[in-house]
Amino acid sequence: MKNNQENNSANLSASELNLNCLTTTTSQIKSKQRIADHGEVFTPPWLVEAMLDIVQGEADRIDARILEPACGNGNFLIPALHRKLAAVDIKYGKSDFERRHYALLSVMCIYGIELLVDNISECKANLLAILFEYLNLDSADEIFLAASYVLSENIVHGDALKMCTTEGKPITFAEWGYLGKGKFQRRDFRLDTLTQSAAWNAKGDMFATLNRNDIFQPVESYPPITITNLAKSYLGKRN
Ligand SMILES: C[S@@+](CC[C@H](N)C(=O)[O-])C[C@H]1O[C@@H](n2cnc3c(N)ncnc32)[C@H](O)[C@@H]1O
Repeated sequence: MKNNQENNSANLSASELNLNCLTTTTSQIKSKQRIADHGEVFTPPWLVEAMLDIVQGEADRIDARILEPACGNGNFLIPALHRKLAAVDIKYGKSDFERRHYALLSVMCIYGIELLVDNISECKANLLAILFEYLNLDSADEIFLAASYVLSENIVHGDALKMCTTEGKPITFAEWGYLGKGKFQRRDFRLDTLTQSAAWNAKGDMFATLNRNDIFQPVESYPPITITNLAKSYLGKRN
């Protein structure tokens, strides 16, 4: 992977894409200090898989949105993405166009919040590496840049309990959707609104349909966007 990047001067460097901090959590701890300071003990892989199995119907659905509020370096999000991509392969494996777009949609439906900046970088790199391998990409591929942009929006450096970013702003998440024919849609919602929305739904069907869309409004809506638009957004954000 690194050689490909070095051979192509148009490519982004590995450090820019954070792939150099690619890590797989083979241990449940990084240091005693981090456990004391941040309660950083990673869930063992067998337990993650068992927990995802409990919600298998959702976990295996490409467009089911998964948020891990203290995501570490992606212990839950990594297998969740693997499951989505397995579903992409079954449903869209025969069409390269659809396979690429639904693989990106899989990444779009993965969300995380994390306090520690090194864990954020590792988490994004781990998720990118999975897409990279699944689609056999090189790092100049537009879809790789598009996915980098999506992850820069979806994996948030912040405090999940306070629902605020490290800059003290309310956390917002992009609700991505695939419209077909290469177009994606995006609407942004505040996390505190989304949690109220979930509680609203839990009240039952009778109330769930009662002007829900009037009450839970996005903070921003965007025109349909393509992979090219998203790749450009990444390059713009980077500069
Ligand atoms: C116990 S580890 C769990 C990581 C991963 N969820 C897992 O199960 O392997 C806790 C992680 O949550 C992060 N964390 C702790 N409190 C947090 C908070 N209020 N908001 C966001 N992340 C938090 C820590 O930095 C650490 O990376």
